[in-house]
Amino acid sequence: MALLEVRGVGVRFGGLAALTDVGLTVEAGTVVGLIGPNGAGKTTLFNVISGLQQPNSGRVLFDDRDVSQLSAHQRARLGLARTFQRLETFASLSARDNILVAAEIRKRWAKDRQADPPREAEEIIDLVGIRSVADTPVDSLPTGLARLVELGRALAVRPRLVLLDEPSSGLDETESEDLGRLLVRLAGTGVAVLLVEHDVELVMQVCERIFVLDFGKLLASGTPGEIQGNAAVQAAYLGVGEEAGEEIGVLS
Ligand SMILES: Nc1ncnc2c1ncn2[C@@H]1O[C@H](COP(=O)(O)OP(=O)(O)OP(=O)(O)O)[C@@H](O)[C@H]1O
Ligand SMILES: [Mg+2]
Repeated sequence: MALLEVRGVGVRFGGLAALTDVGLTVEAGTVVGLIGPNGAGKTTLFNVISGLQQPNSGRVLFDDRDVSQLSAHQRARLGLARTFQRLETFASLSARDNILVAAEIRKRWAKDRQADPPREAEEIIDLVGIRSVADTPVDSLPTGLARLVELGRALAVRPRLVLLDEPSSGLDETESEDLGRLLVRLAGTGVAVLLVEHDVELVMQVCERIFVLDFGKLLASGTPGEIQGNAAVQAAYLGVGEEAGEEIGVLS
């Protein structure tokens, strides 16, 4: 049984069908990619999964339970964490305090007397690799590092599934590779990762399975090898300009 199962999800914004009959599954302990051109519906699907967007149709099952009617907050408490395409950190707090706050919230939620938020925050600072900027307020950090703080904050609640919306944007090549290794390591501890990412090379390297959205519909799903060889996927990427043309270089 998959940890996350999305069934038949549809979302309309006025006359626009942002998502149509989308289904996907994510197993515990795996990194799964969700890719597609700009406007394909990736962030909208994340909003549906995390409970920020009520779909017009379809269901979200998490750990064998229908969570479709639960609030975002209730889903988070079940172990569903996310990061945002537009950063959502406490900008005036340091990197360390952003993570500490999340660890303290988890301690309260879980009524976990054994929890030691300050120690956990230090562990996460090392895990995501932000020790050198731990005392810096997040609003003075470059975007890439601020994204790692947001990832650290998501991990501090000890999620079972993390939804990451373009975590590598703003990171240089080495930092992206480090991030990729971190995601694989996380999966090794049993956490499931659903990754929205325009860096197709990163997606191909770290994902066990990939789902491709195009105009709100599931265009393809499969292993990185299957996706790379899929003509419809290449055509969808070819339709969206120069940046996508570069991505196709990776795909072909
Ligand atoms: N709140 C909203 N109201 C109206 N339309 C919306 C809303 N949110 C998203 N859309 C539209 O729904 C479609 C899907 O948007 P979404 O942000 O999910 O795409 P995306 O795949 O995340 O794109 P990107 O790669 O650019 O982040 C787009 O056409 C977008 O303009
Ligand atoms: Mg998006």
